[in-house]
Amino acid sequence: MIKRVVVLTGAGISAESGLKTFRDSDGLWEGYNIEDVATPQAWQRNPKLVQDFYNMRRKDVLAAKPNAAHFALAKLEEQFDVTIITQNIDDLHERAGSTKVVHLHGIITRSQSSINPELTYPIEGWELRMGDVCELGSQLRAHVVWFGEDVPIIEQAAKICADAELFVLSGTSLAVYPAAGLVHYVKSGVKKYIVDPNVPAVSRLSNVVELQAKATIGIPKLVEELMSNNIK
Ligand code: APR
Repeated sequence: MIKRVVVLTGAGISAESGLKTFRDSDGLWEGYNIEDVATPQAWQRNPKLVQDFYNMRRKDVLAAKPNAAHFALAKLEEQFDVTIITQNIDDLHERAGSTKVVHLHGIITRSQSSINPELTYPIEGWELRMGDVCELGSQLRAHVVWFGEDVPIIEQAAKICADAELFVLSGTSLAVYPAAGLVHYVKSGVKKYIVDPNVPAVSRLSNVVELQAKATIGIPKLVEELMSNNIK
């Protein structure tokens, strides 16, 4: 029986929880240019703008609820050893009950020292203020990976993908590296399901089953099939 399931998720899995995807909205993210709010240069130029932007995103995340796709993936743990690798900075997988979630791009409910990215802390409520500092006395920022920054746990994620016995990809356009390259670490003999209303093109990938569907429809259906052993 298949044991280790690895699920790589992106913004699309949280879309039906009311959180917007990135590339479905004209290259803008909630009305902002990415360079103005999600790069180290933006933080240098205008830290208050960046802080306020992520405070708003945190408010949205706290108000959002996990959807049927998040809950179905949590349920999959009843029969499989499931690891979720998510590009999302929301905590909806955890709130749905998933116990092994790797956040490639950080998580917005935590803060991070602006001089040492390894120092992270939980945030009470939605607001991180200018003047809130880490134990070293430097300003705290959101614990998210900005464009131009390293993805510190990419090697750990690649190992998890290489060990997968079944792989699921959902809600990501695979436009952003290094996350997009993870699919190529999955062994060629392993079955790979892609659940997305607009299935991304992936070259050089074998054993792919495309399920063209929204996450809240496609993921529960797939989970049900896997759990009743209809698909192996
Ligand atoms: N269910 C499933 N998938 C959906 C849904 C839905 N209801 N709605 C949209 N999608 C799909 C789109 O078809 C697309 O393939 O979700 C994907 C969203 O792609 P992006 O907006 O590019 O999001 P993502 O791939 O997560 O972006 C990666 O880019 O901006 C950075 O760091 C940010 O983590 C993010 C990274």
